[in-house]
Amino acid sequence: MQKKSGGIFKELLENKQIFKDREYLRPSHIPENLPHRDEQVNRLARIWVAPLRGETPSNVFIYGKTGTGKTATVKYLMEELEHVAGDLSREVEVSYLNCEVVDTKYRILATLSNKIRETLVEERDDVSDLPEEVPMTGWPTDEVYDNLLTLLDYRKQVIIVTLDEIDRLVSKGTSDVLYLLSRINSDLDKTKMGVVGISNNLNFVSDLDPRIVSSLGEEEVVFPPYDANQLEDILEERSEKGFADGVIEEGVINLCAAHAARKHGDARKALDLLRNAGEIAEEEEAQKVTTEHVTLASRKIEHDRMEEAIQSLPDQSKLVLLSVLLLQERKARKIGTGDIYEVYSSLCRQHGWDVLTRRRVSGLISELDMMGVINARVVSNGRYGRTKEVELNVDPLQVRSAVQKEIYIQDLDSLPLSKQKKLG
Ligand SMILES: Nc1ncnc2c1ncn2[C@@H]1O[C@H](COP(=O)(O)OP(=O)(O)O)[C@@H](O)[C@H]1O
Ligand SMILES: [Mg+2]
Repeated sequence: MQKKSGGIFKELLENKQIFKDREYLRPSHIPENLPHRDEQVNRLARIWVAPLRGETPSNVFIYGKTGTGKTATVKYLMEELEHVAGDLSREVEVSYLNCEVVDTKYRILATLSNKIRETLVEERDDVSDLPEEVPMTGWPTDEVYDNLLTLLDYRKQVIIVTLDEIDRLVSKGTSDVLYLLSRINSDLDKTKMGVVGISNNLNFVSDLDPRIVSSLGEEEVVFPPYDANQLEDILEERSEKGFADGVIEEGVINLCAAHAARKHGDARKALDLLRNAGEIAEEEEAQKVTTEHVTLASRKIEHDRMEEAIQSLPDQSKLVLLSVLLLQERKARKIGTGDIYEVYSSLCRQHGWDVLTRRRVSGLISELDMMGVINARVVSNGRYGRTKEVELNVDPLQVRSAVQKEIYIQDLDSLPLSKQKKLG
């Protein structure tokens, strides 16, 4: 045992730091500078200057794929707007809701109501005349809406409400709340509201009621995917603040950008890759972040993604995957769909589950193939026609650890197989 000298900490402190401030590299950080989004920022700013003049802002419909900077841009502008409104003493409020989290008409109206109530409570000493807080269930929806109207009209103001990820509402069949909110001004006396709807799904418009499209989409702002060069600029910008000076080796940013450009120009993926590469370098106590760290990070991210995908498979698909695993571990000759079905059905019997038909199992095999967990190759099987040859496309240990959380895995030998000998 060393004498107490704090040596262990001193040593760590002397190590070269990889990160200057990791926060700048996290997806939740809202950058003040958004390279290659000038056009979108300017369009929105021109729409949102209206409330500063006491006018009603147009409703806006924003769309673009994930990672194209929609949320970051809107949040940045909302902060700016609040700031300027404060300076100019204008009654302008902004409110942000994510429909992936708040996903029913009731909850959206209730959350909005309570947020507006909260702002009013903060502003005044006497709140006895304010309507009560809305519980998250229990009231008739009409009453929640009336409550929202009362709170909105409590004083004269202009409010901008952003509803992010509204495509979630359509898949849940609750998009009529968009209609209600985009038309709310006709029910208001003093206050004016502008609604912003953000969608990650481009085909979403065709699924929407045309009435919603016309009232929400008074203005439309499109966020196209970034190309590799643009992603490089974004990463440069963020890494200058996030990483210590000079720790990023030549080629690292370029590689991260190239990776993400192949993934639909998703800036979130580019940032994740860069931050993960930095974390790996840090763990290794390396002096610099290198392209090898990027490659390792990319593998780690892919590994985690696969693990999540396998874990969220339906039980029947897990059994099919488990069958492939057991056969492969057994180093059976080429694994055919017949072998898989044999092992699969005996696993089912053992777990007391229904055995699906060969046809359904064949469908599950194709799905696993499409996910990239297995490779299935169609081969001719002589006079018996065509069959599939299957192999795992991921580390068997990974499949084992992901599957065995829910399914007890035994040895292939202990399975009551009817064709056991043939499989060996
Ligand atoms: N132009 C940009 N400059 C800097 N960071 C950006 C830019 N565009 C996107 N980002 C960052 O990329 C990540 C994903 O952006 P986000 O706004 O969440 O995308 P979306 O909402 O379109 O899915 C966030 O961390 C965001 O800060
Ligand atoms: Mg978003």
